[in-house]
Amino acid sequence: MNYHIATLGCQMNEYDSGLLARLLESSGCKAAASPESADLIIFNTCSIREKAEETAMARISQFKPLKHKNPNLKVIVVGCMAKNKGREIIKKLPFVDYVIGPDSYKEIPEIILKQKARERVFIDFDEDENYQGEFAKLQTPYSTSITIQRGCNKRCSYCIVPFVRGIEKCKDAIDILAEIQEAVDKGVSEVMLLGQTVNAYKKDGETFASLLEKVSTINGVKRIRFISPHPKHYNDELLDVLLSNSKICHHVHLPLQSGSDAMLKKMRRQYTADQFLSIVEALRSKDPFYAITTDIISGFVGETEEDFEKTLDLVRHTHFDNAFMYIYSARKGTESFKEIESLSEAEKLSRHQELVVIQNEITKQKNEAMYGRIEELLMERPSTKDPDEWVGKTGNFKKVVFKPNTIVRPGDYVTCKINDIRGWTLRGTVVGD
Ligand code: 5AD
Ligand code: SF4
Repeated sequence: MNYHIATLGCQMNEYDSGLLARLLESSGCKAAASPESADLIIFNTCSIREKAEETAMARISQFKPLKHKNPNLKVIVVGCMAKNKGREIIKKLPFVDYVIGPDSYKEIPEIILKQKARERVFIDFDEDENYQGEFAKLQTPYSTSITIQRGCNKRCSYCIVPFVRGIEKCKDAIDILAEIQEAVDKGVSEVMLLGQTVNAYKKDGETFASLLEKVSTINGVKRIRFISPHPKHYNDELLDVLLSNSKICHHVHLPLQSGSDAMLKKMRRQYTADQFLSIVEALRSKDPFYAITTDIISGFVGETEEDFEKTLDLVRHTHFDNAFMYIYSARKGTESFKEIESLSEAEKLSRHQELVVIQNEITKQKNEAMYGRIEELLMERPSTKDPDEWVGKTGNFKKVVFKPNTIVRPGDYVTCKINDIRGWTLRGTVVGD
């Protein structure tokens, strides 16, 4: 059987698609060259905002003609929307064969290959399922992401994740290290640890800080990244490791959500704006080029003009390297869904746009500050605009385009001097041979 997996959503979904690919391949399936030549199409979906679900439904419905062409084709919807919408997906899109939630992926080979199931919807939570011992298929030959923690124990009032992903489940360190070792043996040198609140990781006496230290002792691991940490779980032990271990990259994606303490409280974020700023200061005190990116929601229920101004002030003050900026989307089932929204869609959009303009200018300034720096780049791919040029990433997660003077491959490290900036793009020239 030939399979095709279409992934929407976050890195956790990318990882799960790798997990599904490996499960299917160990049951004898092969990756299809294209969706048209597949006998099995899996959509791995996201629910974080309403728009994500609308996009997923629209994407899936585009595949209906393939089912007509090949009546043996099986179509499965997995991921967060599978859990959130369940049977409703089959009602709206009857050509979908199965809907399978994030805790039931091991059922898929059996359902498909043995045609065992009479049931079409498998979305129960399984508090013990954390895919211990299952390794994902590598996403790239040079970098791997590994989910070390599934689910979330926080109850941010706007967030659907705990409802679709369940409670926090951490993998054993030994299993995480074995998966990394396997990836390193295949040539990977960059490791990204994943979790909804990744720095809350705790398992059998292991903390996130001690896990990072262990990962760094694996020969062949050159760069360690992680996403997404929660500001509440920064302690001295962690800050110390982050700033002293040279393999841990100087970039963090640290979600702020709002600069107003009243909003943070209402969001149940468990930190204040000042506490957030003290983490930023600690990280940048040792390295002013420590890159900090963030997530910000505009137009949360009850957000006043003053609350929003506090977010803008914090953004101006912090100088985030970049930000994902979202318009608040009320998600059914969450705490804040129950409240009547105080702002119109137009007002939410206008705040969002104001924020985007300010942050974009800061992002530009942060890029410009990289001018003249000598950076080691991890090679990712040839440039799409000019195949003679390559794209690589700095340790602090900036993309740099340059023309190599020797043959390079994905996963190589090349040192460049950043000496040109065109729009948003940093450009460099090779230093040395
Ligand atoms: N509306 C808008 N943005 C949201 N996020 C999570 N839930 C919502 C929501 N209901 C954003 C947060 C989070 C990121 C992954 O998505 O900023 O950090
Ligand atoms: Fe990832 Fe959350 Fe979207 Fe699920 S809802 S795919 S966990 S971002």
